[in-house]
Amino acid sequence: MALKIIDYGTFEYQKMVNLRNDLLRRPLGLSLLKDEIEKEKENLLIGAFDDDQILGCCMLVPQDIHTVRLRQMAVVDDLQGKGIGRALMRFAENLARDHGFKTISMHARKNAIGFYEKMGYKSKGSDFIEITIPHVIMEKKL
Ligand SMILES: CC(C)(COP(=O)(O)OP(=O)(O)OC[C@H]1O[C@@H](n2cnc3c(N)ncnc32)[C@H](O)[C@@H]1OP(=O)(O)O)[C@@H](O)C(=O)NCCC(=O)NCCS
Repeated sequence: MALKIIDYGTFEYQKMVNLRNDLLRRPLGLSLLKDEIEKEKENLLIGAFDDDQILGCCMLVPQDIHTVRLRQMAVVDDLQGKGIGRALMRFAENLARDHGFKTISMHARKNAIGFYEKMGYKSKGSDFIEITIPHVIMEKKL
C-alpha cells in the first residue's frame, strides 16, 4: 500500500471523489456538489493506493494557522478493519505537523467515534446533525 498526496483534478482525484460518493454520500441519498469539489483545490488531499486501486482517503482543510480539519475519511467497504484507516490517520497527522498545525479537529460521524478514540481523539460538545446524520466534534493536539 502506498500513502500519498493526491493532486487536485487528476485521475487519482477522480477516484477519490468516486470513493467518497460511494461510501459517504450515496448511502444517505446524497452526492458531492460541484461547489464542494471546487473548494477542494486549497486542501491537502490524501489517498491510500494499491497500484491504481484506491483503498481509502481523507483530506485536511486549514481552519486557521493552528488548526486543520480532517474530512472525508473513508476506506473501501470490504477492506475496512485491516489498518488502512489507521495508516491514513498517521499520514494525515504527520502532514499536518509538517505544515505547522498544532491541532486536528473534525466533525465525526457517531458510528466512527470509536475509531477516532483509538487514534487519540476526544469528543467535544454535544451531538449535531450534518448531512442528515448525527456527528460530534472531535479533536487532538498534535
Ligand atoms: C471509519 C473507517 C475510516 C475506519 O477505517 P478502517 O481501515 O476500517 O480502520 P482500521 O482497520 O485502521 O482500525 C483501527 C482501529 O479502529 C477500530 N475501528 C475501526 N472502525 C471502527 C468503528 N467504526 N468503531 C469503533 N472502532 C473502529 C478497529 O477495530 C481498529 O482497532 P484495533 O487497533 O484495536 O484493532 C472505515 O471503517 C470507514 O470508511 N467507515 C465508513 C465511512 C465512515 O464512517 N467514515 C468516517 C466519517 S467521519
